[in-house]
Amino acid sequence: MPRDTELGLTMSREHWVRHARNWAAWARKPDFDAYWEYSPSFFDLVPAPGLRTLEVGCGEGRVARDLIKRGHRVTAVDATAELLRLADEADGVGAYARCDAAALPFATGSFDLVVFYNSLMDIDDMDGAVREAARVLMPGAKMCACVTHPIPDAGRFESHEPSAPFVVHDTYLGPRRWVEIPVERDGLQMEFAGWAYPLEGYFRALENAGFAVEAVREPQGTEDRWRRIPLFLMWRAVKIR
Ligand SMILES: C[S@@+](CC[C@H](N)C(=O)[O-])C[C@H]1O[C@@H](n2cnc3c(N)ncnc32)[C@H](O)[C@@H]1O
Repeated sequence: MPRDTELGLTMSREHWVRHARNWAAWARKPDFDAYWEYSPSFFDLVPAPGLRTLEVGCGEGRVARDLIKRGHRVTAVDATAELLRLADEADGVGAYARCDAAALPFATGSFDLVVFYNSLMDIDDMDGAVREAARVLMPGAKMCACVTHPIPDAGRFESHEPSAPFVVHDTYLGPRRWVEIPVERDGLQMEFAGWAYPLEGYFRALENAGFAVEAVREPQGTEDRWRRIPLFLMWRAVKIR
């Protein structure tokens, strides 16, 4: 059973509680969302299995399961009880705990890899989550993350045409809360919302927490528009102090 701790609802956590079932259906449909196209680029950044890997913001658990398939000994955490229950049910190998990413219930220096896959931009206290990741990592250990890229977070393509102009209507420098209009595709519905940060937002959080970035990726998509603008930003960082 997942470990559970009492959590109050913040803006982002409330969103995921409301959309947990829709998200689980969305995330689990094979070859459906961007995960299936982009996650191989992310796993190329992930170091070989070491002692203990922590995934923060695991949702219904697909990243944790993929890490386990690659030989990682995984502990996964999320703030949403329903998603954590689904992750635990679908796996049975990893250890699952409910907590806030900015208050991890683990001892200092207990992991040699922390993974955030499309969760840092969902966590209300992003800086706090990065600080906690640094705390629970051993010196010299790695943190790998994928986030929606700050550029598409800041604007929109004007149409679905391959050469559609990309326009920044609001501001690139943030942070700011974004909420997408509800989407429906192949009978599945989802509403996405999160925090948009400029590049400096993420990289200052890493710098302040004692990380040095050793690899950055902006993988190109296969859809025409996403060959021109990156949809995701991925990195691997090492804890240097
Ligand atoms: C887009 S989902 C990503 C799930 C999974 N990593 C994946 O790629 O399938 C974002 C997850 O972050 C979790 N989350 C949001 N705020 C959180 C917080 N403060 N602490 C822990 N998890 C949080 C949500 O519950 C949700 O499961």
